[in-house]
Amino acid sequence: MLSLEQVSTQIAGVAVLRGVSCQLEPGSTVAVVGRNGAGKTTLLRLIMGLRPGHQGRVLLDGQDLAAVPARLRARLGIGYAPEDRVMFPSFSVEENLRFPCEVIGLSRQAVNARLEQTLDIIAELKPMLARSGAALSGGQGKMAAFGRAVMVGARMVLLDEPFQGLAPVLAQQYSASLRRLHQSRPELCIVITESNRSLLGDLPSQTLVLERGELHRGDAAAAALH
Ligand SMILES: Nc1ncnc2c1ncn2[C@@H]1O[C@H](COP(=O)(O)OP(=O)(O)OP(=O)(O)O)[C@@H](O)[C@H]1O
Ligand SMILES: [Mg+2]
Repeated sequence: MLSLEQVSTQIAGVAVLRGVSCQLEPGSTVAVVGRNGAGKTTLLRLIMGLRPGHQGRVLLDGQDLAAVPARLRARLGIGYAPEDRVMFPSFSVEENLRFPCEVIGLSRQAVNARLEQTLDIIAELKPMLARSGAALSGGQGKMAAFGRAVMVGARMVLLDEPFQGLAPVLAQQYSASLRRLHQSRPELCIVITESNRSLLGDLPSQTLVLERGELHRGDAAAAALH
């Protein structure tokens, strides 16, 4: 579905991604594991079109995304929860969840249906809906950002270090929601970055390891990190 072909990028003259190639398939849960500074956030931002100026190609069903600006990628069915979550503080949590779907032009009925499905998957969001986006703890904000990515990500959801800083109870709830998401939408591709592979348990069906900007395959490479 989404493939990267020999993608490289530099930041301030330093190579951050080097010849990254991979295939992200429907129905897979892919862990992208790497130490701090390995390039995980850069990789997700590049897929979202938020990191212009790279070599190589990013293709969705064979379509080169170079021509698709960041604001239109949500329309392709790619949801993204950045590591710093970015809720609009003047919106309620419910408005934050609805907003990207409204921007891509979904009908009110369609947005209602997606919200209902998202709340079935992440029930912890229900009591937060009326609260201000500014009034969430770090962990609650991560849950809300997850929900927002699920709302808009019809085909693919990219989650940047979702478990970082989550209290154990919230981390368990987050994992349970990820399992429900996979069960209820088996065709969805879920990509999760993490610096510590063990936090992900048996969630991923595939592990990719980013090391100094190069991508390697497999759990053995992930184990060698620790
Ligand atoms: N705006 C920037 N200016 C300069 N260097 C940057 C910038 N953003 C990222 N980098 C560098 O690019 C490299 C990759 O950063 P990136 O944020 O993608 O790593 P990461 O794997 O997400 O790290 P972390 O686990 O800390 O979130 C790092 O060496 C970082 O210092
Ligand atoms: Mg990062």
